[in-house]
Amino acid sequence: MENIIHVTVIDREGKEHLLEAPTDMNMNVMELCKSYELPVEGTCGGMAMCASCQVYVLSDHLLPAKSDNEDAALDQAFFVKSNSRLACQIHLTKELDGLKLKLAGE
Ligand code: FES
Repeated sequence: MENIIHVTVIDREGKEHLLEAPTDMNMNVMELCKSYELPVEGTCGGMAMCASCQVYVLSDHLLPAKSDNEDAALDQAFFVKSNSRLACQIHLTKELDGLKLKLAGE
């Protein structure tokens, strides 16, 4: 289908989940994970404030640069690595087909 991409998410037990993601519904990766009932908190509802949606980006997709808010939230978070991003700040676009992520620790 034209407006569907695939995103692989590895949960905290190391299990891979292949998710079908719509690119025409203005969704982000945090919302996508929640729709598949993966354990992503998303406490702030996608405002880049809580960092409870932290993921590690494993594929080499070029993501838009972090906003100041995303940087600030990750500054306060635990288990942050160089490939950490906030899932709520990754918007599903065609270019992200094949994206691979791992949920960060809680
Ligand atoms: S949901 Fe709070 S930072 Fe992403």
